Amino acid sequence: MAIWNLNESNFTWIDRLKLAGFFLNPKNMWTMSRKVQEFEQEMSGYIGCAHSVFVSNGSTANTLIAMFARDRLASAEKNTVVFPSVTWITSVSPFVRLGFEPKFIDVSLDDLSLDVHLLDAYLAENHHKVALVFITSLLGQTPNVKALKELEAKYNVRVMMDNCESHFSTYEGKNLSSYFTSTTSTYFGHLLQSVEGGFVFTSNKDEQEYFTMSRNHGMIRTLPAHEQARYQNPLVDDRFSFHYLGNNFRNTDVHASVGLLDFARIQTYIKKRKSLYKVFTDNISPKYILPKTFANRENIMFCLPIMTDDSQVKIKAMQYCVDNGIETRPIISGNLLRQTALKDFGDYHEYPVAEFIHNHGFYVGLHPRVTPAQIKTLVAFLNELVA
Ligand SMILES: Cc1ncc(COP(=O)(O)O)c(C=O)c1O
Repeated sequence: MAIWNLNESNFTWIDRLKLAGFFLNPKNMWTMSRKVQEFEQEMSGYIGCAHSVFVSNGSTANTLIAMFARDRLASAEKNTVVFPSVTWITSVSPFVRLGFEPKFIDVSLDDLSLDVHLLDAYLAENHHKVALVFITSLLGQTPNVKALKELEAKYNVRVMMDNCESHFSTYEGKNLSSYFTSTTSTYFGHLLQSVEGGFVFTSNKDEQEYFTMSRNHGMIRTLPAHEQARYQNPLVDDRFSFHYLGNNFRNTDVHASVGLLDFARIQTYIKKRKSLYKVFTDNISPKYILPKTFANRENIMFCLPIMTDDSQVKIKAMQYCVDNGIETRPIISGNLLRQTALKDFGDYHEYPVAEFIHNHGFYVGLHPRVTPAQIKTLVAFLNELVA
């Protein structure tokens, strides 16, 4: 079997020539300029949100959300941020670094997202402490948006989303990222590639101005001239006027140019990923556990999750992958509470679904160059293991 990597570069020779043209044109800026704006506009149109802010990566996009939560949502009483027990470390670490108390809630095997029933029970007792619920959509899965919106209203608590892995997925026909202020990553390993990169998506103008300034040192002059007036400070020069305690999370026109080339192919990628995932689900034995399907959620998968009741099957399946040049990974962090960096924030035994995913699951890559034949060969072996 040919080598099956987690992901591969999407870029063609034609793309490389186009990029050479970009570099050769002396009129083009390489730092953040027109191409970043163009990429932001294209992404807003695709997502269906009013504003997109392009940043250096998904982790710095999450950091902007953490900064916003600290500046705008937190108070002496509200210092807790709720996270799922399975997500990526930089969905959590920026918040902890800013002094938030993390509260982990277990995920559901139905959609690998924060379990909304457990969240409801937690908020019923603790909503007064909560500055933000920061959910993650994992592996291309779509969380239960309706239930989350209801909880947001019921407890008057903001919900935002790390959507680094599901930014092609939809809920009731609308892009998942359009429902919440959310982030994504356009790192090489993800669905859409800009080398490194990330976005914050919002439909709130005030939030967009906060994220745009905070991405660029907190400076007011990063906003268009007509939006600067309300931030002016007569004590300082407008050219170096720092309204927020910002940072430098800018991305560049070079990365935006790469991202725009890939952006043009989104619909092709969606079709391909859907058809490849169907080959997987149509053929794999029902003894393997797959997330549920829901009529109103279209999951454009980031990878092929392999989960089984029998941890020995997992070990044999992973060995088969090693022997056959198929790259594998744990399902993101596994149980995040097992990680050394987070061991002081909870007892990992208290998260049975995360434990199950940790001990019984892994994933292999799903990218547009994987072939149906590769998937069928892998699935045939997996099925033999449980026959
Ligand atoms: C759920 C999730 N959040 C955040 C990130 C971080 O994105 P980036 O690698 O662009 O910093 C990742 C990436 O690996 C991720 O999977």
